[in-house]
Amino acid sequence: MRKAYIDAIGMYVPSNVVTNKDLEGRMDTSDEWIRERSGIEERHHVDGECTTDLALKAAEEALEKAGMTPEDVDHIIFSTMANDYFVPGGGPMMTRRLGIPGTPALDIRMACSGFLYGLSVAKAFIESGAYDNVLLITSEVQSVALDFSTAGRDTAVLFGDGAAATILKATDEDRGLLSVKTHSDGRYAEDLMLRTPSTLDNPFLTNELLDKGYGRVVMNGRSVFKHAITKFPAVINEALDAAGVNKRDVKLVVPHQANLRITEAVANRLDLELHKVVYSNIQKYGNTTSASIPIALYEALQEGRIEPGDKIVVASFGAGFTWGASVMTW
Ligand code: UT7
Repeated sequence: MRKAYIDAIGMYVPSNVVTNKDLEGRMDTSDEWIRERSGIEERHHVDGECTTDLALKAAEEALEKAGMTPEDVDHIIFSTMANDYFVPGGGPMMTRRLGIPGTPALDIRMACSGFLYGLSVAKAFIESGAYDNVLLITSEVQSVALDFSTAGRDTAVLFGDGAAATILKATDEDRGLLSVKTHSDGRYAEDLMLRTPSTLDNPFLTNELLDKGYGRVVMNGRSVFKHAITKFPAVINEALDAAGVNKRDVKLVVPHQANLRITEAVANRLDLELHKVVYSNIQKYGNTTSASIPIALYEALQEGRIEPGDKIVVASFGAGFTWGASVMTW
């Protein structure tokens, strides 16, 4: 049966590294608090670059690794929380940046679950025979929408900027995506959101709204944490069942990198060994939203932690709330 598989991944993070110590100078926080509560040591912030700048660098690397030119891309799927423009989205912008006008492109705005939702669309596109080569871009510039005063410290210290580009291709071989399961629950929308510009307000962008902080990311960290540690294991088990794979046969679980304590809790609940079976690189990048899973996959590959034939699980939880998991044979 025709399946979709990940052929290549590219990644890019801005060169500007921001350490916990750097943040101490901007708000009332400490390196110790950030490390203990989240596992994060540093993150990258843009210095004048926009979302499609990061995306382009990641896409160029992925295309080169796949031995493809931009013209070989049949469809772009673009995931971000923060586009260059509010409208149009980053998908069409990338056809311009890659020099492939006319290529179909769509945007998804599923925050931390953008990679999982992107996989679900790419899988359907490829399995149906509609497309052979799909470019899934996950690119996030969050530092421009964070509140770096003490009032925003519970959120600002966690997020980082970064991008990944994942090329999915068709195969008839015994490899590729076995299952993708996704969920959402808008009852918790306000627990992690960026409100403005918003049609709740008319006009939807005013200085008064910005003065109220509506143009910044706000989060109820405890609520996100509480839901994440139950939803992650549940959806991973659901995706394993759908794929007919036993968790003991899984080589590596690559969860969305939101907080090392969430990753530890998920490893415990699934009775899997952290660091051996459950991957983490949050210390270097913070939470890069939809880019975090493919960036982690990229590094796991580089470290030789993933080999052809391995059973790999990826999983996410974030704003919406949205969550999902996928099981694949590498
Ligand atoms: O992709 C999904 C997105 N987000 C997440 O997954 C985040 C999920 N939540 C979390 O990771 C955690 O809830 C946080 C890391 C955000 C917070 O950790 P916590 O252990 O839940 O801390 P808390 O919110 O209970 O706050 C503890 C204390 C508070 O002070 P008081 O009220 O005890 O005096 C906070 O004001 O820590 C204070 N605090 C800080 N102190 C220093 C909050 N942020 C900071 C900070 N530096 N950056």
